[in-house]
Amino acid sequence: MLELDDVSVHHGRVEAVRHVSLGVTPGQITLVLGPNGAGKSSTLGAVAGLFAPVEGRVLLDGVPLTGVAVHRVVRAGIALVPEGRRVFAPLTVEENLRMGAYTSSAAHTQTTLAAVNEMFPILHERRRSAAGLLSGGEQQMLAFGRALMSDPTYLLLDEPSMGLAPAVVEQVVDKIGVIASTGIGVLMVEQNAEAALGIAHDVAVLSRGEIVFRGTAAEVSEHASVLHAFLGDVGGAIASDVS
Ligand SMILES: Nc1ncnc2c1ncn2[C@@H]1O[C@H](COP(=O)(O)OP(=O)(O)OP(=O)(O)O)[C@@H](O)[C@H]1O
Ligand SMILES: [Mg+2]
Repeated sequence: MLELDDVSVHHGRVEAVRHVSLGVTPGQITLVLGPNGAGKSSTLGAVAGLFAPVEGRVLLDGVPLTGVAVHRVVRAGIALVPEGRRVFAPLTVEENLRMGAYTSSAAHTQTTLAAVNEMFPILHERRRSAAGLLSGGEQQMLAFGRALMSDPTYLLLDEPSMGLAPAVVEQVVDKIGVIASTGIGVLMVEQNAEAALGIAHDVAVLSRGEIVFRGTAAEVSEHASVLHAFLGDVGGAIASDVS
């Protein structure tokens, strides 16, 4: 299990994350919903080793990860797919994928590359294209593939639906479900409640750095007014779906 236990993250004077406790188990999807500036990226960054928590701990199977360098977090089996995807535009699709395997041996990289290409046939088809020429949805698949190249047990996804057309969001969300079904635990953050509630197991709503609501995906949908209160229009879309 991957857990945040009472984690707080500050950026200078900004208290971005306050006493957040969350967990995800292999094969499950935990969704953190929150509006702009709620502390979603800071929460994921605390797990990925980008930000050192000022309080609390990140635990992997009960062992503290807090304060561990990014490459050691990756070796421990945790991979981050950053906000905005951040593929290396001038490099080819395959070069981007190989960069995700920087902690692995060459032989292992070959095996993982074959598995990733099988999961994302489009990445195999486009392997010699510059990543910058891919569509937004394809770039998101590439960002997933690159993270999977480190052979993670847990995947951290930062707003995977951002900037994508609704039909493409659906494909991306389906793929996240497939990834989790292989046994990988997924901790994802989103502003777009509609996008990911359908595949999530546990859901937490983050507002101004604090968890203000927590439940199963079904419970969150039942309490649509909570989503509406904290997420505004996005939560409102869910509210009208369930009423
Ligand atoms: N590197 C930084 N330096 C200073 N303040 C920061 C930094 N990163 C984030 N913050 C601030 O911390 C708070 C939380 O930011 P964070 O990026 O974690 O939120 P978010 O939920 O990911 O937002 P978004 O939906 O815009 O991606 C915000 O007030 C933000 O301005
Ligand atoms: Mg963010």
